[in-house]
Amino acid sequence: MASWGQTHKVEIADVLPTGRRISSPIFQTALGSAYCGDSLRLLQTRPLSARQGQVQLVFTSPPFPLNTKKSYGNLQGEDYIKWFAKFAPLLRKMVTDDGSIVIEIGNAWLPGEPVMSTHVLEAFLRFLKKGGLHLCQEFIWYNPARLPSPVEWVNKERIRVKDAFTRIWWMSPTTRPKADNRNVLREYSPSMKRLIETGKYNPGPRPSQHLIGTDSFKADNGGAIPSNVGGAESLPTLDATLTPKAFTRWIAEADNLLKVANTVSSDDYRTFCLAQGAPVHPARMPRTLVEFFLRLLTDEGDVVLDPFAGSNTTGAVAESFGRQWISVEADWIYAAHSIGRFNPDTLTTTCDEIAVADLPRHINYPATHDAAASSSSDATPLVTS
Ligand SMILES: C[S@@+](CC[C@H](N)C(=O)[O-])C[C@H]1O[C@@H](n2cnc3c(N)ncnc32)[C@H](O)[C@@H]1O
Repeated sequence: MASWGQTHKVEIADVLPTGRRISSPIFQTALGSAYCGDSLRLLQTRPLSARQGQVQLVFTSPPFPLNTKKSYGNLQGEDYIKWFAKFAPLLRKMVTDDGSIVIEIGNAWLPGEPVMSTHVLEAFLRFLKKGGLHLCQEFIWYNPARLPSPVEWVNKERIRVKDAFTRIWWMSPTTRPKADNRNVLREYSPSMKRLIETGKYNPGPRPSQHLIGTDSFKADNGGAIPSNVGGAESLPTLDATLTPKAFTRWIAEADNLLKVANTVSSDDYRTFCLAQGAPVHPARMPRTLVEFFLRLLTDEGDVVLDPFAGSNTTGAVAESFGRQWISVEADWIYAAHSIGRFNPDTLTTTCDEIAVADLPRHINYPATHDAAASSSSDATPLVTS
C-alpha cells in the first residue's frame, strides 16, 4: 500500500502566493475536496454554493473565544458571537432539508477571573436563531486525557476542578433529521451480556418511576444504545463506587474510556507533520468523535462539510467511511499538511504549491538457495513498490 515516506514524498510551499483563487481546491480525492481560505468567503464562491442543499452533515469544531491567544487565532466576546452567527444562514443553505449541523466547542473562561465565559452559550443560541434551526440534542464529550485547566485556578490556587468536557450541539432545519442510533450501538457490558444470557433480574417499578417489565432485558438488540455523554458510559455509577467488587468490575469494563482519549501520539498525521518539519495542529478532534456522528447521521455516499477543518480529521474519517467530504481551513500550513491523513494513491489532484512525487522503488533480488547465484551480477532484479 502507498504511504508517505515509503512510496511517495511531498513538497509543500511555505506560503500561498497572494492572489491565488481560494475557490480552487488545494487537493482532492475521488470523494472529497480540501480548500484553503476564510470559510465565510468560500461558502459564497461558486464551487461551494453549487453544493447548497446537498450536504447531509456539517460537522465542525470552530475556534472558540479563548482568553489566551492560541496559534490559530480567535475573536473575543460580542465580536465572536456576531462573527459566529454569520455562519448560521450560510451553513443552513448548505444542508439538505433532513440534514444536520453538529458543532463541537470547548468551554471558555473570562480573562484573569476564576469564572466561565457565557459567550459560547450565547453564540450557540444566536447561531440557532439566525439559522432557523432546531436543537435536536446536546452532547457532552468527556475527554479523560485533557490536561488540568485552567491551570491558574485548578493547579495553582486549587479553587476550581479540572475542566474535562467539550459541548456538542446537534442542530437541524427540521425536528426529524435523518438519524439512526442502530448505527452507533455499543458492545454490551459484560454484566448486560450476563443478564441477557441468564434472563435473571428483578422486574418491577424503580425509584425513577420506570417500570421494568419481565422481558425488558431479555432481548439481544445487537448492542447498547449509547447516551449523549460520550466516553462516560465507562464512568462508575454511584453504586459502583461504593463497593470494592463493583469498582473492580467497572475497571474491567472501562475500556471505552481509552477509546475516546485523544492521546494517540504516533498517528500517521503527526508522524507526517514531524517528518515534514511542520507544526502539528494543536486542537485536533478525536477520530472516534467524528466517526460517531458520521455513523449516526449519514449513509455511504452522503456529503459531509467541515468549514473549520484544521487538520481535516472530518475529511479523513469521511473518506475512510465512504462519505463525500468538503473541508475548508484558513491556515495554509494546517490545510496543506492535512494531506498527510490521506493515502497518496487516493489523491486525484493537488495545487501547484503541493508537489507529490513517487519515491524510487526498491530493487530486491529473487530469493535463492544458491548464494553464488544471488551475488552474481546477472541475477534478475525484481522491482517492488
Ligand atoms: C478547533 S480548530 C479545528 C480542528 C479540527 N477539528 C481538527 O481535528 O484538526 C479550528 C480551526 O478553524 C480555523 N479557522 C478559524 N477561522 C476560520 C475561517 N474563517 N475559515 C476557515 N477556517 C478557520 C483555524 O485555523 C483552526 O485550524
